[in-house]
Amino acid sequence: MPPLDILALAMLRARNLRALLPRAARASSSSSSSAPSSRYLKTDPSDAATSSSPALSNKQRTELGEIIRVDQAGEIAANWIYMGQMAVLGGDRASGPLIQEMWDQEKKHLTVMDRLQAQHRVRPTVLAPVAKIAGFGLGAVTALMGRDAAMACTEAVETVIGEHYDDQLKALAELPVKHPSLSLLREVITELRDDELEHLDTAVENHSQRTPQHALLTTIVETGCKVAIELCKRV
Ligand SMILES: [Fe+2]
Ligand SMILES: [Fe+2]
Repeated sequence: MPPLDILALAMLRARNLRALLPRAARASSSSSSSAPSSRYLKTDPSDAATSSSPALSNKQRTELGEIIRVDQAGEIAANWIYMGQMAVLGGDRASGPLIQEMWDQEKKHLTVMDRLQAQHRVRPTVLAPVAKIAGFGLGAVTALMGRDAAMACTEAVETVIGEHYDDQLKALAELPVKHPSLSLLREVITELRDDELEHLDTAVENHSQRTPQHALLTTIVETGCKVAIELCKRV
């Protein structure tokens, strides 16, 4: 397929995702309004949902481990992307507070993923230092290209992550095991997905698509995110 067709397809897919997933997020907002991540911030040792892990087969344990490992790595990278953007645009009156607000949510996401990783005794990725450097570099470089490009970076990252969390919710729904910690995990991922889709909407509302080379930048960032997801699942 010619490169321009690939770029056009990528743009179309991003538009479709924005059109569909935010609606899904709004539809599920009533289920996430109990703020499960806040529940994690006040961990209760007597609460099985936040303090125990289910008995699983080796295959199911591997699958759960991959889900939590890659999500923790993703939230690390997200924090460093916003840190990189703030290092360049933190003093910008228009975009600084906006980026800080999204970063603050990512800090909460990472705290929750750290708790889940410990609760389910999942080995963290060995690629965490790479995720930090790559995330900071991506955030800083796109911010140096201008605030529109920084928003285009956020749009591309959150498109992939929104889709990724949606895939995980489907996989978890098919896990034939009932345990309060798995129900809570689904609630947490739903809440995180909704937050990421809000970030996506914020980026689009703040002119991400005005950036020159928007399609090319989107394709590069989305491809990088997808490669990182596959790597962090495994190592
Ligand atoms: Fe996040
Ligand atoms: Fe996000």
